[in-house]
Amino acid sequence: MKIAVMPGDGIGHEVTAQAVKVLKAVVGHTQPLELVEAAIGQAGIDAAGDPLPAATSEIARKADAILFGSAGMPGDEAIPFMMRPGASLLRLRKELGLFANFRPAFLFPELLGASTLKPEVVEGLDLMILRELTGDVYFGEPRGSGINAMGEREAFNTMRYSEPEIERVAHVAFRTARSRQRRLCSVDKANVLEVMQLWREVVTRVGRDYPDVELTHLFVDAAAMQLMRAPKQFDVIVTGNIFGDILSDAAAMLTGSIGMLPSASLAAGSFGLYEPVHGTAPDIAGKNLANPLASILSLAMMLRLSFDQPDNAERVERAVRRVLADGLRTGDIYQSGCTRVGTEEMGAAVVAAMNAR
Ligand code: NAD
Ligand code: IPM
Ligand code: MN
Repeated sequence: MKIAVMPGDGIGHEVTAQAVKVLKAVVGHTQPLELVEAAIGQAGIDAAGDPLPAATSEIARKADAILFGSAGMPGDEAIPFMMRPGASLLRLRKELGLFANFRPAFLFPELLGASTLKPEVVEGLDLMILRELTGDVYFGEPRGSGINAMGEREAFNTMRYSEPEIERVAHVAFRTARSRQRRLCSVDKANVLEVMQLWREVVTRVGRDYPDVELTHLFVDAAAMQLMRAPKQFDVIVTGNIFGDILSDAAAMLTGSIGMLPSASLAAGSFGLYEPVHGTAPDIAGKNLANPLASILSLAMMLRLSFDQPDNAERVERAVRRVLADGLRTGDIYQSGCTRVGTEEMGAAVVAAMNAR
């Protein structure tokens, strides 16, 4: 198991360290484990003058999987796009062709009271958001800024999808729905945008190959509303890059905290990048306050999807459930009567729960 470890910026370091601790404990001596740490984000700039150094890309390409923390810090926006710490992740996703981003929103029953929504709205929640990750307005050309004909400053980005890009993510979405409750909701903005008209047309056509999957469509504004009103109506949601970014943060709150949401970014085959959905959380970075469970649950996804180790993935997930049942909580999921712990204590508790089985 050759794993590239990229902690990145802010709380990325703190949460990734806990996931690595869990990884070492779960794999134990049963398999050779090779961890290669690589600099990315600000660390990449410090080491090589580039947020995504060539050496880091090289390590990524040689690995079986990547464990990623988070990248980007306040003030980033002023730096040219390619040189921003946060853009390192976008470049890595594009370089590695990681077009299928799975963001499962699953509510642990122990966290029923931690969600800001009423318990009956979220109880039993288990939905999968599939976000297309290498297209859309994130990468569309032309992009840039300048002075227009009126002498005013302007800036522009382009929302773009090609038919093959939509097709391949649609196939992944239907196959994912098949492995679950066979319901797929495609989210777009086909009422306004040509690119999203194409999205809806292609998803509908691909759907004819999957007559056993029920396909529905929602406009993204209505989808956001439905996600808050009655999230359990969804099984799998497939959507473009920017809508998926926004909807998955919203879905995080259904599960209690953004600190609980893991993700897997896949290309074809078993290679994948695994990262928590949250960012670098500059407001709590370096204080041992961050919830490491999203990172630890991302590791479980890695064990299942890149290494075909469902038993080990379940061991990790069961251990997470156990510490929650024992009442351990970081600040973001704290409920009265529970025991408040820091990042490191939470990681150590997951390891202990795994060993105690
Ligand atoms: P954020 O996700 O970093 O933080 C949003 C809020 O959630 C903050 O209040 C933060 O304290 C809290 N939070 C996030 N993760 C948490 C955790 N594990 N435990 C407890 N609380 C947690 O989003 P932001 O503030 O909008 O972005 C900060 C920086 O991170 C920006 O530079 C942004 O570009 C970057 N970012 C990176 C990634 C990534 O690397 N995948 C994702 C999102 C944002
Ligand atoms: C995410 C993040 C990234 C994105 C940023 C950091 C580039 O918000 O992974 O959700 O927008 O994709
Ligand atoms: Mn995001």
